[in-house]
Amino acid sequence: MTTHDAHVESAPAAGELRALELEDTHFRLAIEAAPTGMLMIDEAGTILLVNAQIERLFGYTRAELVGGHIDMLIPDSSRASHPEFRERYFADPQTRPMGAGRELFARRKDGREVPVEIGLNPMTTESGRYVLSSVVDITERKRAEREREALLRQLRGLNADLEVRVAARTAELSGALAERDILIREIHHRVKNNLQVISSLIRMQMRSLADQGARAALDECQSRVSAIALIHEKLYQSDDYALVPFSGYAESLAMGVVHLSASGHAVTLRIDVDEVLLPMDRAIPCGLILNELIVNAMRHAFPDGRSGELAVELRRVDAARARLTVSDDGVGLPESFRVADAASLGLQLVTALVEQLDAALEVATGPGATFSILFATGA
Ligand SMILES: Nc1ncnc2c1ncn2[C@@H]1O[C@H](COP(=O)(O)OP(=O)(O)O)[C@@H](O)[C@H]1O
Ligand SMILES: [Mg+2]
Repeated sequence: MTTHDAHVESAPAAGELRALELEDTHFRLAIEAAPTGMLMIDEAGTILLVNAQIERLFGYTRAELVGGHIDMLIPDSSRASHPEFRERYFADPQTRPMGAGRELFARRKDGREVPVEIGLNPMTTESGRYVLSSVVDITERKRAEREREALLRQLRGLNADLEVRVAARTAELSGALAERDILIREIHHRVKNNLQVISSLIRMQMRSLADQGARAALDECQSRVSAIALIHEKLYQSDDYALVPFSGYAESLAMGVVHLSASGHAVTLRIDVDEVLLPMDRAIPCGLILNELIVNAMRHAFPDGRSGELAVELRRVDAARARLTVSDDGVGLPESFRVADAASLGLQLVTALVEQLDAALEVATGPGATFSILFATGA
């Protein structure tokens, strides 16, 4: 037994081993300087060496610890299993953490248990086998972990709450949007109904007139009102109340006009339309132009029961433009006829509407008459 070391004097049971390791000043200094608690025991569990950190951690003095048994530092709950643990460890001593995956606790002198992390380092010497353990108090780390987990839980709670609120608000907004859609559709429906009433009133008025010229004027007036009413009808029937499906519109309009015309029975209607969607402010001038051209063909191209064909074509030219063509194989336009000079309302209206669309009107005649406009489909 060495006597020159005050700290180990109180460990008489561990006599021989100190001759080797504990005399080594460098070893002792290294243990003392370690930033964590260091503690050495032998196979029997006798404490042979501790550093200042261990004293602080467990609240025992070095004199109380050295020579004592490791059991004094083990909580009641795991003390019973320690001998078996030591036996297994010394059977296959390796440098490794103790109790991997388990929470370890150490028992202080005051009885308080503190969470610790323990690293085991075997030391085999001539005098026997020992284990040098590092013991770290992880109370702070545990507390920080708990705090972080609590924060995370709180954050998840807040997130979930936010998601619920976003979902509710989204439902509310899409509900409002659906309501607005229904309202707009309803308005188009009513506008169409009102225009139809006006159209019927004009027709009634027309029938009560004896003058042929006045009747013809009211007839045209009525067809223009119907052409606009049909735009609203197509709008509330479409999925997108902002865009008029103009192909369907052109088809319905042409069939309606031909059906109502005196020469309707002798004329074959050919309709060839691409799918073209037009915003309201393009659809209305386009619809009115189409109406004028079809009405004209039915009125002027096939006089005296003459039969023939009327063709309405709507072609998508490119992504931004479409071409609308109304052609007939009737008598053709009067000689030296020029649309721009037309004194009559119908073609003046067409010229004005073509200008409004920023489009160009092409007219060809002989045989028959062909009117064609190239226009931008955008707003
Ligand atoms: N498809 C057509 N075939 C033959 N003549 C036509 C055709 N379209 C227009 N016209 C001629 O152009 C004239 C001007 O037409 P418009 O301005 O619509 O006046 P309105 O139809 O009231 O006569 C018509 O009177 C007719 O002589
Ligand atoms: Mg006309």
